[in-house]
Amino acid sequence: MAVATKPRSRIAKGPLLAGRLNPRVALDAQADGNVVARFDGHALGLGKFSEATIRRLGELRGGLPLASVKPGRAADKELDLLLRRLAHSGLLEYRLGPARGGDDVVIEPQIADYWPQIAKIANTDTIALSRFAYLRRRGKEMVLESPRAGALFRIGDPRIAAALTTLAHPQKINRYRKERGFPGLEVLGLLLDCQILFKLKPGDAAGLRASEGDPNLVLWDFHDLLFHTRSTDGRQANPLGGLYSYADLMPPLPAVRPPWPGEVIALEGSTRPAPTPSPFASLLGSRHSIRDFDDEHPITLSELAAFLQTAARVQAKWTSGGDTGEEGPEVSYASRPYPSGGAAYELELYLAVEKCDGLARGFYHYDADRHALTAIEVGARDLDAQLLDAEFAIGASHVPQILIVIAARFGRVSWKYSSVAYSLILKDVGVLTQTLYLAAADLGLGGCAIGTNNIDRFARMTGLDFSVEGSVGQFALGRGRPERAGAERG
Ligand SMILES: Cc1cc2nc3c(=O)[nH]c(=O)nc-3n(C[C@H](O)[C@H](O)[C@H](O)COP(=O)(O)O)c2cc1C
Repeated sequence: MAVATKPRSRIAKGPLLAGRLNPRVALDAQADGNVVARFDGHALGLGKFSEATIRRLGELRGGLPLASVKPGRAADKELDLLLRRLAHSGLLEYRLGPARGGDDVVIEPQIADYWPQIAKIANTDTIALSRFAYLRRRGKEMVLESPRAGALFRIGDPRIAAALTTLAHPQKINRYRKERGFPGLEVLGLLLDCQILFKLKPGDAAGLRASEGDPNLVLWDFHDLLFHTRSTDGRQANPLGGLYSYADLMPPLPAVRPPWPGEVIALEGSTRPAPTPSPFASLLGSRHSIRDFDDEHPITLSELAAFLQTAARVQAKWTSGGDTGEEGPEVSYASRPYPSGGAAYELELYLAVEKCDGLARGFYHYDADRHALTAIEVGARDLDAQLLDAEFAIGASHVPQILIVIAARFGRVSWKYSSVAYSLILKDVGVLTQTLYLAAADLGLGGCAIGTNNIDRFARMTGLDFSVEGSVGQFALGRGRPERAGAERG
């Protein structure tokens, strides 16, 4: 690559980082000073602001340079507060580029609370592209993303995209900044902050996979971490859930597959006399989803204990040497009532308890070995939000008595399995979910699987990094409302 004698003048001047309203959002300032954000049919009150602050709202359409807002300056305090509130609700995006002209880069937050930070980079630093980063076409734009990042980057200047590809090789800044396509310390600092780039420590160059984060990250395949973050809530801003996005484009597939044209062997009536249904067949037949619970007679602690004992308690433990050859480490195993890929038993149960007779409202981990619950201190707002999201997901009239969050210790599976680790975990979630359904039916309790889960909130509640142990499934549990039991199907 050619080496220029002078850095580009754009770099010398420095591009501006500005916050602006997401194009879906309109701000409405009312006569009493209250400011309301309107988007996608929602209205969100942002608080009451002075006339001086309201006068500056217009700047948020084109882009308000963040450096021009000094929270320490009395006149800017309110504006900073408004910006933070908009950011917290994901209503801002950020542009980086010359004061006049096109956007070099537009930053779209993916997590609540994202605020752009330009990480400091010294001339002596060596940086490289994360192996989780990828560039792709979205509509007519080029976006740079990573499942680790708190934001995605719309790249408006193709020279920046080209320059970033050179970071597949670690580059020392004092040399890299002399290259013709050097993208500028601002872009690099923003990408570094989002872990799309990382700094190498001295001697790291040979072990790139091991250098870019905590050791647990080493165990993740690229596609698995991407799948985990893009198929759950909390670390992405894509529309999510039953949105019927293609209803106008094509008809739905039928519930039952149309028959194949070949010879048909009828099974109906082939077993004579017809067997009386076994207890298991009866249990399967009685299982159904229950979404509304009898809060006058909530589930009791002893019912919960019986439920967990039936469905999830550790039954036996052993160790095995030689799984990876004679010199390999001893691997510990523990069996439970349900099958698990590779006998990994990576799934853990966490309980958000709203109402359980004999157990205080709160958040607990089920210790499947000691058959005990351990209380975990969590923020009241997170616990409320966890239960409310579950109520919404099952369309219930009240939060569930207990919300079971199924979490995975990902490394337990990916230490052994390549390419299939995350898919094995999701299959295990399916197996465990049916076990929870059957255990609830057997005990006269009710439950319902939940297809969505917020991995960012779970990480906040447990203090565990989302890549170490994370939420992969949910199940609402309680005593079904008698009048609704049986009327829930569908
Ligand atoms: C993986 C999975 C995810 C589900 N997610 C939800 C959900 O988010 N909300 C809900 O109301 N029901 C959910 N269900 C329950 C299904 O809607 C229910 O199983 C289906 O309608 C069949 O009814 P039945 O369980 O009563 O036989 C889920 C079920 C499964 C297996």
